[in-house]
Amino acid sequence: MPLMAQYDIRVFGDPVLRTPTPPVTDIDGALKQLVDDMLETMYAAPGVGLAAPQVGVQKRFFVYDVGDGPGVVINPEIKETSGEWEHDEGCLSVPGLFWPITRPKLVHLVGLDIDGNDIEFEADELLARMFQHEVDHLDGVLLLARLDGDQRKEAMRTLRSRTLDIPS
Ligand code: NI
Repeated sequence: MPLMAQYDIRVFGDPVLRTPTPPVTDIDGALKQLVDDMLETMYAAPGVGLAAPQVGVQKRFFVYDVGDGPGVVINPEIKETSGEWEHDEGCLSVPGLFWPITRPKLVHLVGLDIDGNDIEFEADELLARMFQHEVDHLDGVLLLARLDGDQRKEAMRTLRSRTLDIPS
């Protein structure tokens, strides 16, 4: 068993969450360890996806498990989307809040696995939503940007009131 460690998950307000990530150039032992530690962090949260910036790492990859076992996608790219699907969505970096958000229902995602092999997915519903959510993180975009005007105003009010409770 490799030694596992958990990270603190960065939350709304941390600039790392608004910074687009550069592609991964080295798929090595250090990256594998990071993937294991991020999975551990994600399961403990618990969540179904975790992108590298959420643990303060500026690299383009995410880990996930929507119930079919753990996975990682390195340098993911959404090639195509279709349909529309509204579903409640939350984020470990905006803890405790959920909104109905409309996104494309199907996505074609390409990327690399942990051995550097090309992988691709035709994803639907929950898997497709998680992929879009995690790719957004890698582009420096939080789900707040996907809310409609009224949802967003209320979300910002809630988040501001929380921030005021945090001692500086
Ligand atoms: Ni998230």
